[in-house]
Amino acid sequence: MRKKISIIGAGFVGATTAHWCAAAELGDIVLVDIVEGIPQGKALDLYEAAPIMGYDARVIGTNDYADTAGSDVIVVTSGAPRKPGMSREDLIKVNANITRSCVSQAAPLSPNAVIIVVNNPLDAMTYVAAETSGFPKERVMGQAGVLDSARYRTFIAMETGVSVEDIQAMLMGGHGDEMVPLPRFSTIGGIPVSEFIPQERLDAIVDRARKGGGEIVNLLKTGSAYYAPAAATTQMVEAVVKDKKRVIPVAAYLTGQYGLNDIYFGVPVILGAGGIEKIIELPLNEAEMVLLNKSAAAVRSTLETLKTL
Ligand code: LAC
Repeated sequence: MRKKISIIGAGFVGATTAHWCAAAELGDIVLVDIVEGIPQGKALDLYEAAPIMGYDARVIGTNDYADTAGSDVIVVTSGAPRKPGMSREDLIKVNANITRSCVSQAAPLSPNAVIIVVNNPLDAMTYVAAETSGFPKERVMGQAGVLDSARYRTFIAMETGVSVEDIQAMLMGGHGDEMVPLPRFSTIGGIPVSEFIPQERLDAIVDRARKGGGEIVNLLKTGSAYYAPAAATTQMVEAVVKDKKRVIPVAAYLTGQYGLNDIYFGVPVILGAGGIEKIIELPLNEAEMVLLNKSAAAVRSTLETLKTL
């Protein structure tokens, strides 16, 4: 049976995710947006590229949630992006309302779907999506860790000149400037990264990775990143539709893991057809736990703001 992937929001992140999901033949794609013509136009254009590129995926665009019924995966990308000088948290009010509206329309039509949230502020919006859908928490998650660790891996590759393919890097925490790259759990070809990069350079790389989203915003000036966010989302969609059991960082609902409760937060998980099949608890040292708690406090404060809106 062909898989059905609904992508809500036909902006840069949504359309690029549709592109890569179609190109990888992960399933048929439904691109949804409130703006008339945009999802239809982008979807048709993408479908018309299929005979040339040779991918076998049906792509439709719509303004009607009825077309998303029976989806295996729902990706929520709709919302305002950041502009220079804005934090992800500045988007909270407008994006919380958009997230509620999208999820309340899509979730009842696809009661068995896995929901992947991509809009910012990520951890809080994932919380909103979980609450709005009423889905079991393991089937609602946020995409951030794959993106953030990809940036971190890219910077390690730039520093060392070795293939990105051989760089494995773990990163935890909220999708904000307090996120926690973990050099102790990062390797190049299985060899600790500290064997390749001196501490001081590693610290600079960690810092750049944490601010990686802002770096792109400052360059683009009119919006935020989309190639890497869409690639990260596609990897999560693939893990679900192919039941791959990938071990990747994902914003997951915590119930006591790492001493945290009732919060969506980036942690390593096993991701498969059932959504988050297991949350992995890494043996973090004291210094790493301090950083993790700082990041959790930042996410917690965004959640508190959300309650006051
Ligand atoms: C980023 C934004 C999209 O990290 O959160 O690029």
